[in-house]
Amino acid sequence: MQFQIDKTDGKARACTITTAHSTIQTPVFMPVGTVGAVKALDAVDLQTFIKPEIILGNTYHLYLRPGDDVVAKMGNLHGFTKFPKSFLTDSGGFQAFSLSDNVKIDEEGIHFKSHIDGSKHYFTPKKVIDIQNNLGSDIMMILDDLVALPATQERIKASIERTTRWAEESINYHRENQKKGIGVDQNIFAIIQGGTDKAFREKSAKELCALDFDGFAIGGLSVGEANQDMYDTVEWTTQFMPEDKPRYLMGVGTPEDLVENVYRGVDMFDCVMPTRNARNGTLFTSFGKMHIKNAAYTTDENPIDPECGCMVCQNYSRSYMRHLFRAHEITYLRLSTIHNLYYYLDLMKQMREAISEGKFEEFRKEFYAKRGVEIE
Ligand code: GUN
Ligand code: ZN
Repeated sequence: MQFQIDKTDGKARACTITTAHSTIQTPVFMPVGTVGAVKALDAVDLQTFIKPEIILGNTYHLYLRPGDDVVAKMGNLHGFTKFPKSFLTDSGGFQAFSLSDNVKIDEEGIHFKSHIDGSKHYFTPKKVIDIQNNLGSDIMMILDDLVALPATQERIKASIERTTRWAEESINYHRENQKKGIGVDQNIFAIIQGGTDKAFREKSAKELCALDFDGFAIGGLSVGEANQDMYDTVEWTTQFMPEDKPRYLMGVGTPEDLVENVYRGVDMFDCVMPTRNARNGTLFTSFGKMHIKNAAYTTDENPIDPECGCMVCQNYSRSYMRHLFRAHEITYLRLSTIHNLYYYLDLMKQMREAISEGKFEEFRKEFYAKRGVEIE
């Protein structure tokens, strides 16, 4: 992976990441394609209407179904899904916690039961790398131990100690594999934990960033803490992260969260919010959130967002979108997903332009002004 900083503006960064499958300009939002498809879209839709350079897949889901061996036989994620650009795969730890029953963690790994058929499985740091080798993702994530907040000091301490130990095991295993010709084009990121505790975040960041990873993620946020606590934790943590490697904030967030965390030096994001909210009737626009079922849109001829350049806003009215939503039409899911993802990727593009012109502060003010919020 090549990484280059193109421009900085305050703490905000515009960078270029080059993987074996695409060139990614940051800040970047990565659409979530949990089982190898961004819900409601296919690879042609993505390439035609959204044009992402990188999307997410999940180790947990793809391992359980169809099985990473099947994906490997079909030419990895790229050959199987026919999305030719980059994939990042999460390690499965987070999904095991949030989706399965009877999760048991020990010093070597995570025991869990499948949410599909109740079968028993065990993820270790090496096992999730083997799976991600089969998936052929461009960026693999280490197995980490994250905690739901609030948590006790003891629990957070155990989490960062275990995560560091697993990280050492992961990086050694991956680098040895690469010497044998396995995962040569694959990159691996560590995940910083530590809750919202400054001392724990500092310790976790310093220990992990001393290791030979290709990039670093901030995990364990957006798990129940206040928004400002998330921003403060990110601002505190980035100072211990290397300048010359990508910084990825996992599972975040709203458009406001993206602006605030780019402002604090984050390069990469993923979240189910644009896709899930689309399906639930919440659309994102340059003037804030819109609930498409609202009766006010019954005969509204305007597009969802007059400032949006997406295929949906070029062709269809709020009135029609409201109707499709209320009629539970499948077409609604595809159109709303296209609009929301386009909005998210366009927001990132606007931020990159503002950083490149040294105008990120102005951009941030304008972003809030359009939503009727004044900031200093
Ligand atoms: N997705 C959102 N947060 C996290 C995290 O802390 N760890 C992992 N592995 N995935 C995440
Ligand atoms: Zn649109």
